[in-house]
Amino acid sequence: MGEVDPAFIQEPENRPRISYIEGEGIPVIDLSPLHSPNDVSAFESLVKEIGNACKDWGFFQVINHGVPLEKRQKIEKTSKRFFAQSLEEKRKVKKTEKLVLGYYDSEYTKNVRDWKEVFDFIIEEPTLFPNSHESANDKELAGWTNLWPEYPPEFRETCQEYIQEMEKLAFKLMELVALSLGLPADRFHGFFKDQVSYVRLNYYPICPFPHLALGLGRHKDSGAVTILGEDGVPGLEVKRRKNGEWVRVKHIPDAYIINIGDNIKVWSNDEYESVEHRVMVNSEKERYSYPFFLLPALSTVVEPLEELTNEQNPAKYRAYNWGEFISNRNQSNYQKQKVENLQI
Ligand code: SIN
Ligand code: FE2
Repeated sequence: MGEVDPAFIQEPENRPRISYIEGEGIPVIDLSPLHSPNDVSAFESLVKEIGNACKDWGFFQVINHGVPLEKRQKIEKTSKRFFAQSLEEKRKVKKTEKLVLGYYDSEYTKNVRDWKEVFDFIIEEPTLFPNSHESANDKELAGWTNLWPEYPPEFRETCQEYIQEMEKLAFKLMELVALSLGLPADRFHGFFKDQVSYVRLNYYPICPFPHLALGLGRHKDSGAVTILGEDGVPGLEVKRRKNGEWVRVKHIPDAYIINIGDNIKVWSNDEYESVEHRVMVNSEKERYSYPFFLLPALSTVVEPLEELTNEQNPAKYRAYNWGEFISNRNQSNYQKQKVENLQI
């Protein structure tokens, strides 16, 4: 990745600003009330805060989330060990046309190459609903099978321990989102029996031309909710809903960055927003991040929830099959796979 390869060059309007004035940041939400359920008023305020953040920003950070710091430190360390290997080694677990998961070093967002390498893995033993046999077969047919490298030896165990923690936090967040929409706390749970949730380990190498390229081009997340851990090297920018400005996310040690994906946008019938974001790269420091994507089962039909639509507020989206949607997306049919195209 040493020379200025034109594949990486962003159109002038999409290039990052290198100098930056710190503005208002995304909301920071303290999840402590989750751990002391007897304090009803603190819990209700938390639900309101979540609702406001989902409406105004589509993005927020959480502290006191209950995920052990040690699990996060372990995945960051093991990810660094994996990516430090030669390309040849890493390509031994490269994803293929038929396999959705594994390593790859050439990803495009909106036809421009991202300055990054990634490794994707799916959850093997979900904590809320165990995987069914039937679904294991369907997932395999659709290419959702993990590929594990031999090195580092602790890689698979560390990854699976981490993704289970993420899944637990994701369900707590989905409960808060449901309550904030006036729904029963477990309203979304059923969509995640046989889920295809995964973690993507991102490695953004040092880039000699950070003013021209992006680690990850602007995009929205297509799943339910994303929980992002990152190593503290700045990079993530979020497009502010209110005025379209790019806002840099400030690093808070041990906080997780949460964003609403298109599934929630559709289920909530546009009450909550899925917001564009992008990642800048750096000429001095490499960056590592490890987002978890909570994704429904492949057989799920996604559509605005009945309880949130009526004659005055009719459904704004047509129903779509999640498995088809994500598989077309993975075959880089990206432009066609936007929920905006399903608007009624
Ligand atoms: C993502 O949007 O999936 C990754 C964000 C990041 O690396 O900060
Ligand atoms: Fe994203």
